[in-house]
Amino acid sequence: MAHPLEILILAAGKGTRMRSDLPKVLHRLAGKPLLGHVIDTAHRLGATQVCVIYGFGGDAVPQALADDKLTFVLQAEQKGTGHAVQQGLPVLSDTGVTLVLYGDVPLTRAATLQPLVGAAQAGKLGLLTVTLADPAGYGRIVRVDGAVTRIVEHKDADDAERAIREVNTGILAVPTARLRAWIGRLDNNNAQSEYYLTDIIAMAVAEGIPVETHQPAHEWEVLGVNSKAQLAELERIHQGEIARTLLEAGVGLADPARLDVRGSLACGRDVSIDVNCVFEGHVVLGDGVQVGANCVLRNVTVAAGTRIDAFTLIDDAVVGEDNKLGPFSRIRPGTTLARDVHVGNFVEIKNSQIDDGSKINHLSYVGDTTMGRKVNIGAGTITCNYDGANKHRTVIEDEVFVGSDTQLVAPVTVGRGATLGAGTTLTRDAPAGELTLSRARQLTIAGWKRPVKQKKEG
Ligand code: UD1
Ligand code: CA
Repeated sequence: MAHPLEILILAAGKGTRMRSDLPKVLHRLAGKPLLGHVIDTAHRLGATQVCVIYGFGGDAVPQALADDKLTFVLQAEQKGTGHAVQQGLPVLSDTGVTLVLYGDVPLTRAATLQPLVGAAQAGKLGLLTVTLADPAGYGRIVRVDGAVTRIVEHKDADDAERAIREVNTGILAVPTARLRAWIGRLDNNNAQSEYYLTDIIAMAVAEGIPVETHQPAHEWEVLGVNSKAQLAELERIHQGEIARTLLEAGVGLADPARLDVRGSLACGRDVSIDVNCVFEGHVVLGDGVQVGANCVLRNVTVAAGTRIDAFTLIDDAVVGEDNKLGPFSRIRPGTTLARDVHVGNFVEIKNSQIDDGSKINHLSYVGDTTMGRKVNIGAGTITCNYDGANKHRTVIEDEVFVGSDTQLVAPVTVGRGATLGAGTTLTRDAPAGELTLSRARQLTIAGWKRPVKQKKEG
């Protein structure tokens, strides 16, 4: 049977170059903390234990990512990567293999890590290396006759070693019992006076343990984040990958460079998405859904055939089939739109259920409302759902016609087929099938003259 996989994620560094009070690993990529991406990858690999070594920022890191599947260990002082691993050793079991990952290297794929774990399972040391055009700053992979003999850190390297372009990504996997023995023998006699994890490579070689190297499919899989510029760069790479996957699945993107998915986006057939749309949380778009430019959709399910025009915001809502939303609509949490619903410009809907075929086309606020089928809401209609202390519901039954500039002061019910005259302020229930209005009677004052400006004296 395979040895249990345990994963150590080093995340104690401050990240000075981020110039931020937030610990580096809590900065977000695609809406999720950098460390969250690494934790997800660790779980994807089927680790029996995932242990995060944290330091800078106190409890901010464990608090932000609290999860009963994680172990957090404090590294109070950052004395190097070897010292960081040492902090995690007490929680690791000797029968397993350990994979070391980094909280600031978010985009490594599970498929890239799998062969390293395989090497460790076979009693070897699996090491992820990458060959860079500019290797400056990285630990160099020193080989003799093709076999890795050790890693030398940039600051400790001589000119010949600095010319090596194959570098250490820092990611490695090894049988835990061996790791424990080697870490116990590290010293800090080097240019940085740190305990280097990389020194275990030479120890493995000395003991005849084979070092098996693998390289990632893409260089960006091993890029770390040290600055806001690098974070922005990785964000674009990640979004580009998401866009590529969507295009391959047949989703139409007006411009793959102008799409942001911060969560998951599942699309049916013949979905099209115009430029500058943001998708957050879990979004599902059914067959034939069209999303116009500059829309933001957060935790939304949209059924087939619906068209969402430009500048529409939808948050925590369920949108049915064949709706027409926007431009400039705002659909807020707790809203369900049934079939063939039209919501037009400058319409806000909150915590409401709108049934089939109803239309709210212009300049309206509908909150805490239950609306039946084939209701027509005139421009400028407002459900007055808040009395200053409590929220109340408005019920508008099937086939009601609400004239423009109407206020419905909740709690209030408009009966089936009722008509409300334009400008009505409804404070009591309106009976079904009747015209209800509240309005001062129109007068014409014959011969009335506008005042004229008086001439100044003197
Ligand atoms: C390390 C490697 C180097 C490799 C490079 C890849 C060592 C000695 N060197 O160098 O070979 O090319 O990564 O980026 O391992 N950390 C802690 N606690 C510590 C020290 C570090 O948690 O005490 C974490 C940091 O937050 C960071 C990571 O470990 O995420 C790497 O540490 P860093 O000091 O940046 O190592 P490098 O000098 O980049
Ligand atoms: Ca680094």
